[in-house]
Amino acid sequence: MNQTAASRGEWNSRMGFILAAAGSAVGLGNVWKFPYITGENGGGLFVLIYLVCIALVGLPILIAEIMLGRSTQKSPVGAFRALSKKGSPWVSVGWLGVLAAFVILSFYSVVAGWAMHYIYLSISGAFDGQSAEQIGKVFGAVYSDTGLNLGWHVGFMIITMGIVLGGVKGGVERASRILMPLLMVMMIGLLVKAITMEGFGPAADFVFGLHTDKLTSASVLEALGHSFFTLSLGMGAMLTYGSYLSRQEDIVASGIIISIFDTGIALLACLVLFPITFSYGMEPSAGPGLVFASIPIAFSQMPGGQVLSAVFFMLLTFAALTSAISLLEVAAAYFIDERGWSRSKATLTTGGIILALGVPSALSGGTEMFGSGFASATASVFGEGHGKNWFDLFDYLASNWMLPLGGMGIALFTAWRVSDRAREQGFKAGSSLSGMFWGWIFLLRYIVPVAVGAVFLHAIGLI
Ligand code: TRP
Repeated sequence: MNQTAASRGEWNSRMGFILAAAGSAVGLGNVWKFPYITGENGGGLFVLIYLVCIALVGLPILIAEIMLGRSTQKSPVGAFRALSKKGSPWVSVGWLGVLAAFVILSFYSVVAGWAMHYIYLSISGAFDGQSAEQIGKVFGAVYSDTGLNLGWHVGFMIITMGIVLGGVKGGVERASRILMPLLMVMMIGLLVKAITMEGFGPAADFVFGLHTDKLTSASVLEALGHSFFTLSLGMGAMLTYGSYLSRQEDIVASGIIISIFDTGIALLACLVLFPITFSYGMEPSAGPGLVFASIPIAFSQMPGGQVLSAVFFMLLTFAALTSAISLLEVAAAYFIDERGWSRSKATLTTGGIILALGVPSALSGGTEMFGSGFASATASVFGEGHGKNWFDLFDYLASNWMLPLGGMGIALFTAWRVSDRAREQGFKAGSSLSGMFWGWIFLLRYIVPVAVGAVFLHAIGLI
């Protein structure tokens, strides 16, 4: 281990890296968002398109990020600096990544807070014997309760900071080693339950049958955008994790394993959620409320549902936590690497800023200023009736602009700017799959820019 590795931190093992990276990838995006967008887009064919996006766009960028991090042993800003000329505009891709970490974690923490509150509600029996209508109203009440949102947001951020304070091995890797297997066990336990339900057949058909009825051009772009979010791409989170990886490790195989793991959990989440929706005659297209409203409804009608519901929301919280760690790590790593701050100073400062930045998001459901008033103020930008409150605005800016822009920057930089030698060495060092090198370059050079370019043109309304 050289001196920088010793002071910056390094993974204990390849398994530790894979679990941490998979922990970053597997989050609210898999368990909360993927099932509901699958529902909204009609099921199977959307799933197929998403799988193609993961393979042709997500995986090559994932490998590029890990490669950039590992070959420079730096977090995003430093990595772009190390591989480009002085004053190069490419460094701004790194800056955008650090900024995105602040933006994403500030609202992500609020959603994670809802999941934590639902653990409490489940255990305290708040859903027992309630009608579907009553439970449906709970989410609205939670969403608009300012004190509650603030409290859980602060609580979740404190836990996240506590883990990141522990460092790469003792904090991030250790938490992932404990939480990820736990998440798998809980998921499989819920799947066993789901398989016995009468709705399992229709659910499997919904997820794997090629249904075209609700698919639009927007669905394709949504699938692509989600492939960025779900693999934690476009802002240097995977780059930063790659920077703690030794040069002996196989990054190509690791990237493939992480992608399969992430996709597997997303599909498992669907196979857990949809049998419940179908068994209880609910709509698969319920939207973002699918988890927070529908699931407790289903569980409340089931023997032992109180426990299952608590287990489900614990799973969601753990998944969110290992993702939140990776977001905070990117922000903190910038100050550690580029400003020479200690880990504790960097973690507490960036965590504190994100905590403050998340306050308006936590207040978006319950205040005029950041909620409905903010939405009507932004309606002039997004069109009448499409205004966004602070929370929605942050989510939208990050997912639809910052991540695709960052991902495109990373792909173009890797494929066209990094020297041939550095690129080839970076990819092949330690890899048993070095034969895939040219395929990887081809995807980064041509397929990724065209696909992501299409997302932008659609976002600004040109296609
Ligand atoms: N991938 C996580 C999810 O699916 C979210 C996430 C964590 C993320 N780190 C990220 C998204 C970095 C984009 C960039 O929930």
